[in-house]
Amino acid sequence: MSNRVVVGTQWGDEGKGKIVDILTGEADIVARFSGGANAGHTVVIGDEKFILHLVPSGILHQNKICAIGNGVVIDLEHLFSELEELEKRRIKYRGRFLISRNAHLVMPYHKAIEKLEEEARGKGKIGSTGRGIGPAYRDKIAREGIRVIDLFDSELFKQRVEWNLKINDNLLRKLSKTELASLKKKSLDILKFIRKVKPLIADVGLYLDQAIRKGKSVLFEGAQGALLDIDFGTYPYCTSSTTTVGGVCTGLGVSPVLIGEVIGITKAYTTRVGNGPFPTEEKAGVCDILRERGNEFGATTGRPRRCGWLDFVLLKYSFRINGISKIALTKLDVLDSFEKIKVCVGYRYKGKLLTEFTPDLRTLENCKPVYQELAGWQKSTKGITEFKRLPDKAKRYLDYIAKKLKTPIWIVSTGTKRDQTIRL
Ligand code: IMP
Repeated sequence: MSNRVVVGTQWGDEGKGKIVDILTGEADIVARFSGGANAGHTVVIGDEKFILHLVPSGILHQNKICAIGNGVVIDLEHLFSELEELEKRRIKYRGRFLISRNAHLVMPYHKAIEKLEEEARGKGKIGSTGRGIGPAYRDKIAREGIRVIDLFDSELFKQRVEWNLKINDNLLRKLSKTELASLKKKSLDILKFIRKVKPLIADVGLYLDQAIRKGKSVLFEGAQGALLDIDFGTYPYCTSSTTTVGGVCTGLGVSPVLIGEVIGITKAYTTRVGNGPFPTEEKAGVCDILRERGNEFGATTGRPRRCGWLDFVLLKYSFRINGISKIALTKLDVLDSFEKIKVCVGYRYKGKLLTEFTPDLRTLENCKPVYQELAGWQKSTKGITEFKRLPDKAKRYLDYIAKKLKTPIWIVSTGTKRDQTIRL
């Protein structure tokens, strides 16, 4: 098998966890390249449900190697509680889980800073997941960050903590003396993870390159979605990392020539969690049906997701940036009850028809979506595993999507379980 990348093509929550889990069966190694504990990948195996945030979903396959690249920001407290939870559920990770030595750490003060900043933003808040992601990436870019490898120089580590608390004094002074002292202690206490981290650290880029050259195949696991990308997303209402395919190279140290296919995970409708523009958002009625049938609540924060119709302006853009080779379409069954299904083919703004994405927030916030209506199938597709068993109108919906995006549909998910899947 060639090396595959799995990326979200919308605002995240497309159902990457399940698809990664399925494709892991065909790979030797799963490597995560971006984001942090803000992600929430849900995988259902039999009657058991796993929600993974930092650990690649591939860990659920006992014989696969999983790696976290330098592009991921790691909250060690969170990581080890996730690993311990997996162990309790009989998923062994020792000897098959690696973390990059130059990944940056999410420190306790990042979470405190983010909370204070979001409060200060008031109405303009981003609606982050509260996992300290923005401040951690900001420190990385500003060259103030602390990497995994820095844990092994305790003097340097302590200096970096002191320095970071000092340069963030403007914000942190809003905390009481006791809170500040406790934050400092918690931050210095991160050193206690050295013993647990030591057996896991690796030069992940070198490891992957050597494995690929020996004929092993890698599944590159993305997090979030293209419209949350720091460069290509709906800035500033986005996350702080590269969620698109380029993140494989910068977030793992893997050459682009080693990437084979790019699998675009696309939900059969659109959702987003947190603030920011969403042209095809439905306020009630349709949104309630999608949310209820699709269980659209954030896997990380539990927040209700905003829901709406499929948007081809956004999809065409994210397919172009990612160079999607095949589509994995998820949650088709959620649309089962609709008599009509709308799809957005353009935006109308100030009398003009726009068919290409724009980074201009005002346009995205104030445009009116231009819809085409397709016939709904009004039959259950839940759990269908063969294409030929789908209702004709559902087949037509899939065909429409593939034609519009000039990309073949390869996988269709018809339920949360591993086997509720059609392979085309
Ligand atoms: P942050 O990544 O926590 O800084 O949050 C920034 C924005 O990205 C917020 O709107 C979050 O709701 C959104 N976001 C971050 N991670 C995910 C995800 O895994 N799924 C969906 N939205 C996400």
